[in-house]
Amino acid sequence: MSYFDTVSLAPADPILSLTEAFKSDPNPDKINLSVGVFVDQSGTTPILDTVKEAEKRLLATSKTKSYLPMTGSPAYASLTQKLVFGDELAASLQGRVATLQTPGGTGALRVAADFIAKNTSAQKIWLSNPTWANHKGIFSAPGLGLDTYDYFDSDTLSLDYPAFLKALENIPAGDIVVLHGCCHNPTGADLTPDQWEDVARIAASKQWIPLVDFAYQGFGTDIDTDAASARIIAAAGLPVFICQSFSKNLGLYQDRVGALHVVTDDAANHANIVSQLKISVRVNYSNPPAHGGGIVTTILSDEALTEKWHAEVAAMRDRIAGVRTQFVDALKAAGVERDFSFLKEQKGMFSFTGLTKEQAIALREKHSVYIVDSGRINVAGITNANIDRLVAAIKSVL
Ligand code: LMR
Repeated sequence: MSYFDTVSLAPADPILSLTEAFKSDPNPDKINLSVGVFVDQSGTTPILDTVKEAEKRLLATSKTKSYLPMTGSPAYASLTQKLVFGDELAASLQGRVATLQTPGGTGALRVAADFIAKNTSAQKIWLSNPTWANHKGIFSAPGLGLDTYDYFDSDTLSLDYPAFLKALENIPAGDIVVLHGCCHNPTGADLTPDQWEDVARIAASKQWIPLVDFAYQGFGTDIDTDAASARIIAAAGLPVFICQSFSKNLGLYQDRVGALHVVTDDAANHANIVSQLKISVRVNYSNPPAHGGGIVTTILSDEALTEKWHAEVAAMRDRIAGVRTQFVDALKAAGVERDFSFLKEQKGMFSFTGLTKEQAIALREKHSVYIVDSGRINVAGITNANIDRLVAAIKSVL
């Protein structure tokens, strides 16, 4: 008998376990399109030049490794608020935004979940159908009830806007609605700024609270256009949670850097909100890691570096858009009859291919091509070196 005999085998993570399996696959031609990580044409996840420059400056100027405050660096908070809201709106929200520097976007989501469970009357968290696989685990961890709202039409593989609006109209007051700020994960089907106006209008009239998961700013259209979601909702005076990540747009995957912005509709609540957020931070990770935040702060506080970073984000975005066209054309040229042209319209790193779970498993087991069982692919993982093999593998499982 072991003390741990009571421990059962947990289900594997639907995304990260695939990278584990990929790593132990001996096939030299294996392809990983599962986890959302950008690679360049050579198949490398690069360290951005702006990040290298910021690290150089940090190395030269850092004087301590002492703890950050529980809420993180105040300079980081102010700069990330400006990035999300734009300068003008950020200024007008002063006194109404509580910002935490968090370990990645996941850390921001988890603290938000804790805060919501302990401090609000939300009965349920509403997730898009489908959504990022980890949302369910994060929001159920502190005991919150979950439900889903209609978003995607799996027949047309595109946004089902009427069904989405109808679902939003029926969400009870006080509940939390998790929205994807841009580059919807997993479908790549985004809302236009006009559609975000509809979302804000419905949130105001039905009095549910938006939580914007904002992990891909700059990967959709550009840094400012992609922020329409957060800006339209915050400008409408609504309470909102925004969970920001720098994993993708700064390539800081392993540095775990993000932010949680809680916007209140009444500045009188601000201090209480901050005090409760601090409780959640303290019991989870005490205070945030500093290095990634230092990089973000260095870049965003320097105009020239910020401009260079915008160009780096544009280059990553353009590569992904180019791959989408190349992939659709290659499938067609290989004689694949199914029309995949919808992939060109989707935004960000991910696309829902419409491939079934059985086809995803066959891709993995027969061809060493790793995609999520839902049929999601990370388009940013396709390169000139693997596209022909990928297309042949897909053709053979269809
Ligand atoms: C993804 O969806 O692949 C990324 O957000 C990485 C992750 O943590 O799942």
